[in-house]
This record gives sequence, structure tokens and C-alpha cells, in this order.
Amino acid sequence: MADPLPDATLDQLFRGARTRNAWLKKTVPETLIRAVYDLAKMGPTSANCSPARFLFVTSKKAKARLAHHLLGSNVAKTQAAPWTVIIATDMQFYEKMPELFPHNPGTRDWFSDAEAAKEHGMRNGSLQGAYLMLAARALGLDCGPMSGFDAAGVDREFFAHEEGEMQHWKSNFLCNIGFGSEEGVFPRLPRLSFEDACRIA
Ligand SMILES: Cc1cc2nc3c(=O)[nH]c(=O)nc-3n(C[C@H](O)[C@H](O)[C@H](O)COP(=O)(O)O)c2cc1C
Repeated sequence: MADPLPDATLDQLFRGARTRNAWLKKTVPETLIRAVYDLAKMGPTSANCSPARFLFVTSKKAKARLAHHLLGSNVAKTQAAPWTVIIATDMQFYEKMPELFPHNPGTRDWFSDAEAAKEHGMRNGSLQGAYLMLAARALGLDCGPMSGFDAAGVDREFFAHEEGEMQHWKSNFLCNIGFGSEEGVFPRLPRLSFEDACRIA
């Protein structure tokens, strides 16, 4: 049994954490991005299926390729962010079940029809995207998630023409990662109260 985390940690992860729209000119080394992934990968998924895949975009060239597929308001902040991650789903994630769930390799067949792959891929891949954001915050980074982009365009640009597994990746959402600036942070929006969003049965 673990103790509750201290208030300062809860503030960093939740209460004080904000969606960022501008970025300090402070480098985020690849080692830190790898550390984020190494935490995020530990979050739970159905039968450990781990369908999310992450393309971390940082070069000027790749950022420019991405920019063509972003909604207008997302272009400048994405260009300015040290890293932008395309959170994608490997639509053939089930091929890795023998590795990920070795005591029952038959789990491949739970996920391998197109409908099941779509449903479980989206559910678990989105969870993994959320784990990634919390992992980034836990390591002192800030996030700016975005769904304002042309997913089919991003898939054509980055995945469809790749050889091997990457050609089966489909983008889910994007997230800028870096050290956030206070500039452009919106006033905090209301959240639903327990009474509005929850029931106890
Ligand atoms: C999946 C997802 C997609 C989002 N898409 C966009 C987007 O395309 N453009 C944008 O400016 N903000 C986008 N946002 C940011 C949300 O509006 C923001 O996280 C929300 O209002 C809460 O803000 P807060 O974290 O500062 O409280 C997105 C957030 C999420 C989680």
C-alpha cells in the first residue's frame, strides 16, 4: 500500500497543470523524452496490449511537414514547441500479443478482427496518450494536446509510405511538449462537479 502523494505533487500533475500554448526557449533533451516514455509505458492497457505508438517530432524539417496538416491556431505553437508527439495507434497492435502477454499468446485473436482492433486500439491508445501527458508533467515538463489537425493527412505524410509496422500507424491526437510559458494560457475553465459527473450505485 502506498501513501497519498504530497499536495505539491498533486498540484504539479493536476491542479496547477495547464494546457500550454507557448514555450520557453529551453532545450528538452532526447534523454528526457525517453524518460517520459519509460514512465508512460508502465500504465495499464487491456491484456497489456499497448497499442499506442509515438512519433516524437523535433527536427525543423519534420515540423514543417507536420505544419501543413494542422488547423491554423495550432501551427505557431507547434512550430515553437521543442517536441511534438504524434500519438498514434498501431492498427495491427495485436501482432505483438505473444510478446506482451506471453502466458496466453491466443490473446492475439481477441483483438485481430477489424472492429475489435479499432475499439481496443482507440480505448487503450488514448489511455496511453494520457499516461504520456501525466508522465511528462511528473518529470517537470508541460503539455499542449491538440486534435485540431487533419489525421488522414498526417497519416499519409508520416506513416502510409513507411515500410514495416509504421505503415499501420494511425494518428489519434498530437501533443506539444516542452517547458511552457505563461503566455497564452487561457483562464482555467470550469470542471464538472462530482454531483454533475458522477453517480454512486
Ligand atoms: C485531446 C485534446 C485535443 C485538444 N485539441 C486542441 C486543439 O486542437 N487546439 C487547442 O488550442 N487546444 C486543444 N486542446 C486543449 C484543451 O482545450 C484544453 O486542454 C482544455 O481546455 C483544458 O485546459 P487546461 O488544461 O488549461 O485546464 C485539446 C485537448 C485535448 C486533451
